[in-house]
Amino acid sequence: MSTPLKNDRFLRALRREPVDRTPVWLMRQAGRYLPEYRATRAQAGSFLTLAKNPELACEVTLQPLRRFPLDAAILFSDILTVPDAMGLGLYFADGEGPKFERPIRSTADIDRLAVPDMDGELRYVMDAVRTIRRELDGSVPLIGFSGSPWTLACYMVEGSGSKDFARVKSLALNDPAAMHRLLEVTTDAVIAYLAAQHQAGAQALQVFDTWGGVLSPSMYREFSLRYLERIAAELPRGDGAERAPLILFGKGNDPYLEALAASGAEGVGVDWTVELGEAVRRTGGRVAIQGNLDPVTLYAQPDAIAREVGRALDSYRDGNGGSREGHVFNLGHGLSPDMNPEHVGALVEAVHRLSAR
Ligand code: CP3
Repeated sequence: MSTPLKNDRFLRALRREPVDRTPVWLMRQAGRYLPEYRATRAQAGSFLTLAKNPELACEVTLQPLRRFPLDAAILFSDILTVPDAMGLGLYFADGEGPKFERPIRSTADIDRLAVPDMDGELRYVMDAVRTIRRELDGSVPLIGFSGSPWTLACYMVEGSGSKDFARVKSLALNDPAAMHRLLEVTTDAVIAYLAAQHQAGAQALQVFDTWGGVLSPSMYREFSLRYLERIAAELPRGDGAERAPLILFGKGNDPYLEALAASGAEGVGVDWTVELGEAVRRTGGRVAIQGNLDPVTLYAQPDAIAREVGRALDSYRDGNGGSREGHVFNLGHGLSPDMNPEHVGALVEAVHRLSAR
């Protein structure tokens, strides 16, 4: 028997049930903008040592929750743990972001890929989930996550971040069959990874399709949406009140909200280019909507932050027939290292104050 949750606003909102306040959590809520994170990371030596140590990963997961009354915790890890476990060799070059030692360079590289062992190479992630659940002690739910197949394939083929995604788009155009083999095995890995996190104790699951929005509509449907739909349909995540909701977050997913809402996912996460009222109208109560303050708002002063929070909350409510049900407040993308923690506090406070019933 697991401890009942003391704060279940986030899970209730994802089920579109009434809540006393709109729940809020923030993408990248753990990270370099917090001095205590920088201290733990310095102690670990590197980001990967930190992420691969369940006790330290648990510590940094909890750090933002000690400062702010957030309504959910998110596992501290990275989306690139999966391709790393598939043998690509993840590393971080100083100041350059993530890279792979052995990126996908041929169809032979694709045909060698296999779903990694969740109790082997990725056991440290499941250990972190178990440790965090124990330490949270039912205070708030824990979100597990994965990259989307397309977004993971971007890094696997490019070997790093990219400005134009020329390599991965060329592969999709020149050899779509090979691209689909890559996306199929990556989707199998994502499903196994999310299912294992759920088994280990994650109470909600989010897929980050950070780079879906760089595709043309026809390519998005073929190379991103199709695999998000497979995940939503096939991911085992429990039943009834115990079901772990699945959130599909995507930057630039505005044109596809109807399709994402029909996928079987419980929530859709949107960026700040989407009007929340429009998003909820177009998805017609089939899913919860998560988002969507422009993260850059956090560089403004607290009164401006509160005004923008109010605008987002009211846009959602007005599009949802006067009800705040089914809204999870978040940013439209992650926090940046140079953001002021006090402004993050002002944001969280404003969400709860301005949405109180
Ligand atoms: O939200 C959270 O608090 C959970 C932790 C989390 C991290 N990465 C920690 C991290 C999550 C959910 C991610 C997801 C992730 N990682 C995505 C998808 C979401 C998004 O932001 O679009 C992507 C594309 C990545 C790949 C990745 N990992 C990038 C681009 C970087 C930043 C590199 C840099 O130097 O800025 C990372 C590293 C990373 N992942 C950091 C953190 C806190 C910074 C590492 C450090 O401490 O130096």
